Amino acid sequence: MQVYVIVPAAGLGTRMNVPPPATPGATSSSAPAPKQFLELRGIPILIHTLRAFAAVAAVRRIHVAARAHEIERVQAQVHEHGLDGRATVVVGGDTRQESVSAALRSLHASDDDIVLVHDAVRPLIDPVTIERTIEAVIKHGAAIVGVPAIDTIKQVERTAEGAIIGTTIPRERIVLAQTPQGFRCNLLRRIFREAEADGFLGTDEASLAERAGVPVAVVLGSPRNFKITQPGDLELAEFYLQQGNR
Ligand code: C5P
Repeated sequence: MQVYVIVPAAGLGTRMNVPPPATPGATSSSAPAPKQFLELRGIPILIHTLRAFAAVAAVRRIHVAARAHEIERVQAQVHEHGLDGRATVVVGGDTRQESVSAALRSLHASDDDIVLVHDAVRPLIDPVTIERTIEAVIKHGAAIVGVPAIDTIKQVERTAEGAIIGTTIPRERIVLAQTPQGFRCNLLRRIFREAEADGFLGTDEASLAERAGVPVAVVLGSPRNFKITQPGDLELAEFYLQQGNR
């Protein structure tokens, strides 16, 4: 049994809205840099993410999905940080699901191998949580990292005047889904096939499993493993990195 990792990194990061880093030799562009290429302590976010998985001995190979025009940039970063032996870069798609699907097709994995999918923009994932996810997939066939809800959760109706509360969802029944999300390879291939056949588009892999009636276990994550989404998130990630604990 081998463990493979898929890192979707083909997002546009439209919510981040910060100028591109001044990279020598980079072509001039007024478009904001996708958030996975912004730097934390001088290292691209994507590379922090890849390093966390490369630090786990069980991980055989990492397949990174990138936009076609960013393939060279990602390959250069992978090379610069000595990860050539661990990571392969493939062309992603227009949605996260399509990017993961493209990377999944590029894997030469056996049915009982394990595939972990992890957002490129969650660089603070720690190797222990990755290992716990692998163990949970071995035990349950499917497992994701999640954190309990701290705030009270409201279900709302969106109206022209804004959100109107419908009901309160009991907090103890809520888990906020993070990544990695791990599956036996044959199961992941099946739920992707079924979703694609039905035209279903999910924002994570677990949602594809749920609709197929597949039970998915939850491994306790940490608020540190947050998805870098908005400009202030960079400072928070820098802060966590300074603390020295991922
Ligand atoms: O957009 P969202 O925050 O859900 O992105 C989660 C992850 O999916 C990011 O790492 C992003 O780069 C990736 N993604 C992708 N292909 C897309 C859209 C998002 O690989 N077309």
